[in-house]
Parts: sequence; C-alpha cells; structure tokens
Amino acid sequence: MNFDILLGLQWGDEGKGKIVDALSPGYDIIARFQGGPNAGHSLEFNNMKHVLHLIPSGIFHPDKLNIIGNGVVIDPAVFMKEILELGPSVEELAGRLVISSRANLILPSHRILDAAYEAHKGNTKIGSTLKGIGPAYTDKTGRNGLRVGDIFNENFRALYDEHVNGHLSILKSYNFSFNIEEYEKGWFEGIELIKKFKVLNTEYLVNEMAVKGKKVLAEGAQGTMLDVDFGSYPFVTSSNTISAGACTGLGVSPKLIGEIFGIFKAYCTRVGSGPFPTELFDATGTELREKGKEFGSTTGRPRRCGWIDLPALKYSIMINGITQLFMTKADVLSGFKTIKACTSYRVDGVECHELPFSSDSAIEPVYTELKGWEEDIKDLKEYKHLPVSLINYIEFIEKHTGIPVTMISVGPDREETIFRN
Ligand code: GDP
Ligand code: IMO
Ligand code: MG
Repeated sequence: MNFDILLGLQWGDEGKGKIVDALSPGYDIIARFQGGPNAGHSLEFNNMKHVLHLIPSGIFHPDKLNIIGNGVVIDPAVFMKEILELGPSVEELAGRLVISSRANLILPSHRILDAAYEAHKGNTKIGSTLKGIGPAYTDKTGRNGLRVGDIFNENFRALYDEHVNGHLSILKSYNFSFNIEEYEKGWFEGIELIKKFKVLNTEYLVNEMAVKGKKVLAEGAQGTMLDVDFGSYPFVTSSNTISAGACTGLGVSPKLIGEIFGIFKAYCTRVGSGPFPTELFDATGTELREKGKEFGSTTGRPRRCGWIDLPALKYSIMINGITQLFMTKADVLSGFKTIKACTSYRVDGVECHELPFSSDSAIEPVYTELKGWEEDIKDLKEYKHLPVSLINYIEFIEKHTGIPVTMISVGPDREETIFRN
C-alpha cells in the first residue's frame, strides 16, 4: 500500500502541518484533498515559521511533488499571496506543485456571501473563517461551480460574470454592504499565476505514481469533529475531512490506502462556535491557551481550550479507521499538577459513551484524573526518556482507544518530534 493519510481527530489545528513536513522525507508526493484557505498549517524549521493555507506541507522539500487535489476549493488571490511569500521563485515552485483541473474555485462573491450569511445568522453563527468555503462547496454540490480547468476557456471572463451576477442577485435580499472590486484585482492576478503551474487531471497522476511504488501522503485539513457529516453539525466546515474524503478528494480507491495516521493534541482546542464538552472557562483554560500559544493560524482568534475528550477521540478513530495515533503539544502539559481526561459523558443525567446527535444537548464530561509532570520535555529525543507520568498518560489513551501512539511531538519545530519504535 503506497497511499497513507494523515488527518486531524479533533476540531482542527492539531499540528498537521508540522507533522506532514516532518514525515515528508519518507514520501514522494504530498497531496491536499479537501478544505481550502480556511486551513492554517504551521511549520517551523531553521528558526523560521511558515503558515500554509492552500499549499501542501511538503512544499519546503525540493525533491517532493505536492498536489492540490480535486476536493480542495481554491481562492486564486490567497494562492498568489501564499506562493509569493514562500521564498523559492515561482518557476521553482511550479516544478514542485501541481493543481487539479477539477478543484473548484472560490470566487470573490463566495467570500461576500459567506460574510452576509454569517452576519444574518444571529446566535447560530458558525464562527466561519469567512474565506468563502461554505458558498463555494454549495455551488460545487449544486453543480454550479467554476473549476480550475475552466480558466483556460476563452470565455472564462463571461463565465465568471455569469456566476458573480447570480451571487449578486442573492445578495440583494441581504442587507449587507460590500465592494467586490476590492477582491477582484488580486483574484484575476491569481488566475494568471495559476496558469504558470501544471493544471492536470491529478487523479491519473496520483494513481500512476502509487502503482509505480511511489509513496503518497494525503494531508487532511480541519479535523474530524468539523466534518460536514460527522462533526457537530451545523457547527462544521463544508467538506468531508475524514479518511473517506481523501478518496473522493484525490480520486483514489479505498483499496490503495495503507496507514491512516490520526493526529490529536494532548488536550483539546476549538476555534469558532459549537459544542465543546471539555472546554475550560477557568484559569486552567487560560494557562493552556497561553502556554500552547492557542491563537488561530488563519484568523488570529483565541482558541477555546479544554482537557482531552476520549469519547470524541474514539469516535474519530472509528470513523476514520485510524491505524496509528500521533500526539502533539505534549510539552504544553508540562507543569500541570493534575491532568484530566474525559472518559464518558453525562447527558441529561445519564452516563453515555456516544456523541449525542444534537448540538443542543447539555453534555457534562466525566473525568479521570492523572498525575502531571514537571519536566520540560522540549529537548528530549527518545520515548524512554519521557517523564513517567507522561508515559502513563499516553498508555492510558492507548488503553482507552486500542490504538498505539507511535509519535509524540514536543515542540513546534520539525526536529522536536519523537518517533517510538
Ligand atoms: P494544523 O492546522 O493542524 O496544521 O495546526 P496549526 O498550525 O494551526 O496549529 C498548531 C500550532 O501548534 C502551530 O502554531 C504549531 O507551530 C504548534 N505546534 C505543533 N506541534 C507542536 C508541539 O508539539 N508543541 C508545541 N508547543 N507547539 C506545537
Ligand atoms: P486547519 O486545517 C480550526 C472552523 C471555523 C468554524 C468552522 C467553519 O488549520 O486545522 P469555515 O471557514 O470552514 O466555514 O469554518 O470550522 N475551521 C477550523 N478550525 N482549524 C481549521 O483548519 C479550520 N477550518 C475551519 O473556525 O468554526
Ligand atoms: Mg490550523
């Protein structure tokens, strides 16, 4: 099996970018399969920090091929900004990055629709990143989208105008002021930049490479609890963030899948609205946010913080068929006297292990307390040198989930990664 998947098991921001970058030397291709500029994947190496939104996290390895798959929604303006800020020249990057002709485009008017819908939502606001994700996927499934392959159509401008006019007529029924020209210049410049990259039916490329024995790593965006089907609907994103999404988002058969790496933080965070059973509103929540630098990579918003939620983690493991667990931000828990792990919920006074259907359910977490550790672990390189209490915590999670934790991340840098073997 030459096709592995790495994806987030919580509400996003689990550290996917860092780990994909660290694993990239073992792969030939790194491919994004869903989401779009709502993602913010941070990578650190050589004392530099990079945040990627649309571009796969293998981009800094010159000998790797990166693919933006058909399941991704692309905003050309964001793409251009990101490419120009990366460092290597456009020509060099064009040798490392290929874009699916079938990926749908986020139009400037999708961003405006996103903002208008959100502004009119009252207390059911999703807390969207306002990057146009929801409206772009709505047009895709409504069979009304524009795709990257369309930019080569000689009537592209007319197609664009037709789509935008449709959106403007929807916007008339919203009391929402906007200025579309402010987005359009950068958007059309981005379209011209995309033309400098290879635009292909990448499903052929991925399958041919996998058959030839090349190794592909599919990089998830967001997290399982934000999946449009299995997340805390409606407080979710608009794509399938789960392992099945890698098949539809790249055009790969489930038969090809090998390892499915599930990445989770040693605690939990969530940005945006929606249920978060283990959220802490006290000094411990603030301490997690400050020590973990928990502020959104895309929007800068403070992330909500809380203890690990094992019923949710087990649910994510089940939906994705996780074969290995990766724990990140273990270093952030150093110094906490006690660590709590939610092992079940109490819903309407009744203990339960399942995630309730309704986002309105009042869930009370049932905790097990574990001993914390004092040691700073950032410089540790071997599993056996980790503090005993951390090893106990890891083993506790393994026992509850039945899946081995094979990698522990102890800092944001690529090097601060402990593989356990
Ligand atoms: P992603 O969206 O899953 O790629 O995660 P983000 O990049 O949005 O958020 C993760 C944040 O934690 C980033 O600022 C990373 O640099 C940082 N990070 C990743 N792994 C670790 C870790 O093990 N320890 C610490 N302290 N920070 C980490
Ligand atoms: P990465 O890939 C964390 C959240 C938003 C909002 C909801 C819907 O960096 O882990 P959308 O913009 O998709 O309409 O927002 O999903 N969200 C994320 N939260 N990490 C992300 O991506 C996210 N992408 C979207 O905050 O609650
Ligand atoms: Mg992120």
